[in-house]
This record gives sequence, C-alpha cells and structure tokens, in this order.
Amino acid sequence: MKYTCLNPIASVGLDQFTEGYEKTEKMEDADAVLVRSAAMHDLELPDGLYAVARAGAGVNNIPLDKCAEKGIVVFNTPGANANGVKELVIAGMLLASRDIIGGVEWAKSEAGSEDIAKKAEKEKKKFAGCELMGKKLGIIGLGAIGIQVANVAECLGMDVYGYDPYISVDAAWKLSKGVKHIKDVDDIYRTCDYITIHVPLLDSTRKMINQDAIDLMKENVVILNFARDMLVDEEAVVKALKEGKVKKYVCDFPNTTTAGVENAIIIPHLGASTAESEDNCAKMAVQELMEYLEKGNIIN
Ligand code: MLT
Repeated sequence: MKYTCLNPIASVGLDQFTEGYEKTEKMEDADAVLVRSAAMHDLELPDGLYAVARAGAGVNNIPLDKCAEKGIVVFNTPGANANGVKELVIAGMLLASRDIIGGVEWAKSEAGSEDIAKKAEKEKKKFAGCELMGKKLGIIGLGAIGIQVANVAECLGMDVYGYDPYISVDAAWKLSKGVKHIKDVDDIYRTCDYITIHVPLLDSTRKMINQDAIDLMKENVVILNFARDMLVDEEAVVKALKEGKVKKYVCDFPNTTTAGVENAIIIPHLGASTAESEDNCAKMAVQELMEYLEKGNIIN
C-alpha cells in the first residue's frame, strides 16, 4: 500500500502503525489517503485512488458523492476517540455549572497581590455555582460517545434521559442500565436541565436544535455541542443566551456567531485532541485501509 497523509494524525507519528507501507507526498502516487480534519472538498481526486480513511468519526470534510462516483471507499473510525470526547463533555458540564473560568481569571488578575487569600474569601460569592447531582441530563444520540457520557453522568448522580431513534430500548438498557429511553425528542427538550447532542451531521439533523426546540426547553437550560456546530441554529441559541432562557452554551466548534458571546463557553475543537484518541484513530484508520487493500474487507 502506498499512502499519503493530508495532515498529522497521530501524536507520535504514523510510522509505528504503517511499517512496511510506503508514504508518498503526492495524492496522485497514492493508493489511499489518511486524513484528520483537512477539508477535501476542493481537491481533485486522482483516478488511481482506492480509499480515504478519516481518523475521526465525522466525515463532513470528505466529498462523499465525489468518492462514490469514482468508486473510492471512505472509512471512518467510530468510537476510537469516544473516551477523549466524553471526558471533555463532562468537563463542559462542570464548566457550565461551576465558575471555574471566572475564578481562575480572577486569581490571575490578582497575581502579586499580598492579600489575595483575604480578597478571595470576599470575592468567591461571585463564582458560586451548582452541582450536577440530581440534575436531569438529556443525551441526543446514544452512539459510542453518548453512551459513555451517560455512564459517567450516572456515576455523578445525574438523572439520565436518552433519545436515539436508531437504538432499541433493550440495547440502550444493556449499554447503560440507568438511561431512561425517550421516544420523542421533544420530551428531552421539555424535561432536561442539561442537553448534549451526539449525532452525525446529516440533512435530517442539520439545525436540529433550533428556535422551536429552544421554545420547548426549560428556563436556564445548558446546551452542550461536541458533535458539529451545524447541528445547532446558533443564532437562535445566542438570542436565547442574551434573553437568559439558555444559561450556558458549551460548544467545541468556534465561529464568529458564538465566539465572545457572554455565557457561551467556546472551545477550539479539542474533543479528540488527546494523544490517546489521536493514536487510537490513526491506528484504526490504517488497519481499515490494510484490511481493504489487502483482503477486500470493508470495516466502518
Ligand atoms: C470526530 O469527528 O471524530 C471529532 O470531531 C474529532 C476530530 O475531528 O478531531
């Protein structure tokens, strides 16, 4: 197999996974492409290309129609970075509930002040928060990430509700015993204090969290989006943040609509940016390419 890599995809270099395979700089010379987040939509896909493997779950940076026309098989690595994303989602819920960011900024601004400890006792009221225990968490999408978030949230004492039209009650029960399986997503909007979305970006899911959904939500709801920004009508969310209906919007996809908006906690797409997740994705992507190019097997 001759492969090319459009952007760095493993923390320690790809060589440990690709031993015996030749790396080429040009896509024209390659049988397969490995890619992480680089957008491939404007690239000319050469005739000799057999496969593209995305080291990650979402495939919206890959021109699926163009690949299908040319018979190029596209792979992704579902689940390989789920733990990294799950940990950041939990951190997002905590950041939305405890004013860790405000407190840290305050302590920084007091650097060098001799009576910082005394001042802290006076100031800390400003940074008081709330706890996750006993709060209702709604998870939209019970795939690899959604289920892992559910399991940790239960350990934190949250009351977990899950919605996924593609998973049976039995399967949801087996994967995460405590999840209450909700059949109508509107009931998630009506019931939950925290709502996190973990679905792929499809025509049917684009702007799924929109004004109508927000209208159904409780006052002071926290919305978390670690899946794709286009799943949420962010203009509607910003309006709801300004009106005070939404308490916090935590999102792993920065853009001009939300960056800098008060009560929006915006993170620069760090969900899977851990050494472990990067290496798991890179390893799985290479294995998928080998299975296909050597044995004709298609996995993921
Ligand atoms: C994914 O699609 O797997 C995540 O967004 C992580 C990433 O793209 O780096």
